[in-house]
Amino acid sequence: MKVTVVGTGYVGLVSGTCLAEVGNDVLCLDVDAAKIRTLEQGGVPIFEPGLEEMIRRNVAAGRLRFTTDVEQAVRFGTVQFLAVGTPPDEDGSADLQYVVAAARAIGRHMDDYKVVIDKSTVPVGTADKVRAAICEELATRGVDLPFGMVSNPEFLKEGAAIDDFMRPDRIVIGVEDERALALMRTLYAPFQRNHDRLQVMDIKSAELTKYAANAMLATRISFMNELANLAEVLGADIEMVRKGIGADPRIGYHFLYPGCGYGGSCFPKDVQALLKTAKDAAGIDLRVLSAVEEANENQKSVLPRKIKARFGDDLSGRTFALWGLAFKPDTDDMREAPSRTLIAALLDAGARIVAHDPVAIDEARRLYGDEPRLRFTDTPMTALEQADALVIVTEWKAYRSPDFAAIRNSLRTPVIFDGRNLFSPEAVREAGIDYYPIGRPQAA
Ligand SMILES: NC(=O)c1ccc[n+]([C@@H]2O[C@H](COP(=O)([O-])OP(=O)(O)OC[C@H]3O[C@@H](n4cnc5c(N)ncnc54)[C@H](O)[C@@H]3O)[C@@H](O)[C@H]2O)c1
Repeated sequence: MKVTVVGTGYVGLVSGTCLAEVGNDVLCLDVDAAKIRTLEQGGVPIFEPGLEEMIRRNVAAGRLRFTTDVEQAVRFGTVQFLAVGTPPDEDGSADLQYVVAAARAIGRHMDDYKVVIDKSTVPVGTADKVRAAICEELATRGVDLPFGMVSNPEFLKEGAAIDDFMRPDRIVIGVEDERALALMRTLYAPFQRNHDRLQVMDIKSAELTKYAANAMLATRISFMNELANLAEVLGADIEMVRKGIGADPRIGYHFLYPGCGYGGSCFPKDVQALLKTAKDAAGIDLRVLSAVEEANENQKSVLPRKIKARFGDDLSGRTFALWGLAFKPDTDDMREAPSRTLIAALLDAGARIVAHDPVAIDEARRLYGDEPRLRFTDTPMTALEQADALVIVTEWKAYRSPDFAAIRNSLRTPVIFDGRNLFSPEAVREAGIDYYPIGRPQAA
């Protein structure tokens, strides 16, 4: 099948590459000429495990190409995936300008039947806006061409995106006509040979399903974070509690890890957008979800609070080693990352920071290039030299089993603030290090 993917970010590039991998002819379009140039020269603008190799293989096979030529891209695919960004607007609602612009381009250039698929996370009712934008452009041209509308939200996780796309738990298809549905069944058949994973529903339900999924996951995290803060005060250990409740099959172990707040390009903006949709469209306050967001904002300042409780409010003259910049392991994405709240708080209080991350340093340089009090190192251990304490923000595998004796010897004061509960408190304390995890007994 001929497939056009509009937007070559985390979702578009992974989707386009995986669709090429199973034999489709894929053309990926982006308005960012630098991104397309990188891709055409064999580079990959984002870090995603396994992606570079898969892109190379499919480009070499002639099944995957990249362009900035909008007209060519629209004419190419019978199937047009919209995978552009939907960042938060100032009021928290999803900014649909990129989705609508991409839809208009389709209306302006299409010359035969198309299926237009919203893969971006978009509020309920967006498919109607996309359809209207295309119809308006067709009317301006004085032509009447048929097209199908599909909502096909994406559930991939950065860091495991290829596996998630190739072996999805479910493929949600919101669709209202048989012709478009038949095309979607054909397109997704290679990803569900084992059993049918397609969940066909109306478009609005599909749009809401994506927000419901992220809102539920964010709720579990905020719930655990609040209980962790309580456990700390009561002298209980949240890790024991986590295992104690996770064993219940009605609850399960997934997404119960307490930490220093959720971040990334999805949960924060999707929670806000759903709150806004509920308020604007229905006058409804989603009270559980408002609390989820508030709890998360609070949780992002737990690490700075603990650091100040130990070292004082004025941190000038202090240096902190920071392990982890990405919002989670196996990605270079720093959108809404808790590391950013921490960096801002430490810099505000006068501190210096020496940070390590296995892949996100380039992204951090792009964000903080001019900041003289923030440096980066190539190895985790060199970040510790002359630092007053180590602060862990991202649970990269490379941080999980460090040499505690070497950490104690490198730090000026042997203190670890662990925002991800990576270590056994006994092992850290036996090494003579003061340990401040989340929701577990704190150093005296
Ligand atoms: N990142 C994730 O893990 C994830 C997971 C599921 C769903 N989503 C959703 O998927 C969507 C895309 O997310 P992302 O993280 O891939 O975004 P991204 O910011 O990484 O990529 C979006 C890309 O779209 C391009 N673009 C913008 N307007 C365009 C246009 N008119 N024509 C062509 N290209 C255009 C941008 O230049 C950019 O490269 C969002 O709605 C997001 O919420 C993201």
